[in-house]
Amino acid sequence: MRVLGIETSCDETGVAIFDSEKGLLADALYSQVAMHSEYGGVVPELASRDHVRKLLPLIREVLAEAQLSLHDLDGVAFTAGPGLIGALMVGASTGRALAMGLGIPAIAVHHMEGHLLAPMLEENPPSFPFVALLVSGGHTQLVKVEGIGEYELLGESLDDAAGEAFDKAAKMLGLDYPGGPLIARLAEKGDRSRFRFPRPMTDRPGLEFSFSGLKTFTLNTANAHRDEQGQIDDQTMADIAAAFEDAVVDTLSIKCRRALQQTGLKQLIIAGGVSANRHLRLKLEAAVKKEGAELYYARAKFCTDNGAMIAYAGCQRLLAGQASDLTILAKPRWPM
Ligand code: KG4
Ligand code: ZN
Repeated sequence: MRVLGIETSCDETGVAIFDSEKGLLADALYSQVAMHSEYGGVVPELASRDHVRKLLPLIREVLAEAQLSLHDLDGVAFTAGPGLIGALMVGASTGRALAMGLGIPAIAVHHMEGHLLAPMLEENPPSFPFVALLVSGGHTQLVKVEGIGEYELLGESLDDAAGEAFDKAAKMLGLDYPGGPLIARLAEKGDRSRFRFPRPMTDRPGLEFSFSGLKTFTLNTANAHRDEQGQIDDQTMADIAAAFEDAVVDTLSIKCRRALQQTGLKQLIIAGGVSANRHLRLKLEAAVKKEGAELYYARAKFCTDNGAMIAYAGCQRLLAGQASDLTILAKPRWPM
């Protein structure tokens, strides 16, 4: 079965074709990051307009790359939520209309299910059941995964998501949006022992997270080191970035170990934009080893938003006989 996947939930237009026998045939991505960075965050109306501009050209591009025509497709998968309503509507209406015109099934995919299954696109994928840490700009969740669609929420953030915390801390340091990759790059030059930030909610049992306090800590530390012009020297910036990254990574590692112990499972997958973080991958690699478990993640370009994960997730659901009706689904809020 060959499935076209469409992702337009936020600021990346992602399109891909997944073949259940041959694997990923093509994928293309257009990032709007440069356009939004001028405003310090995603501007929903501009995002929707740019998806309209880019989606059909990208669909043509993946078809050409895979040397296929529209008539070779067996299904269309689109992200139906959660995300920005206007942005979602672009992918949902285009995907639904394409499927209708071609007389093939369409399937509405949950964005976080797409992220969760992205490590399945890699060479040695995990097998069910496993524990998943979903860490993106909007979500921080630990999930027990028994199979496609069989998800049990073990714990989540009570306030900011991990990626959101990275973005907010970056803003406080005067860095661009999205701040996660910029903090990570700065942190590489930082002295990780100069400042110690708290590891929120690790001293009590449970698998809940809280990251909003870390931004206050970041702001206070930054303010304490500003010169008369309000500037912070480069080394101090790097040291703060390193302390912040360490605090987030340590907190996530502690909770992941706890989730493995609690479930008795021996596989952990990490997915979502923050799973691209190299320090997180290294630290988690060591943490899961202590539990006698294995760590799995997708290549960096499939950690952040992309069409391949939606094509894959949609293909699995269509193979299981599921399909969405003619209602064009777009749900800005949608629990997985
Ligand atoms: O999954 P994603 O692309 O979009 C959402 O579904 O939210 O995640 C985006 C988030 C942003 O907050 C971004 O700052 C963060 O992932 N991110 C990172 C890194 N790359 C992306 N955070 C830390 N380190 C990174 N290398
Ligand atoms: Zn995402």
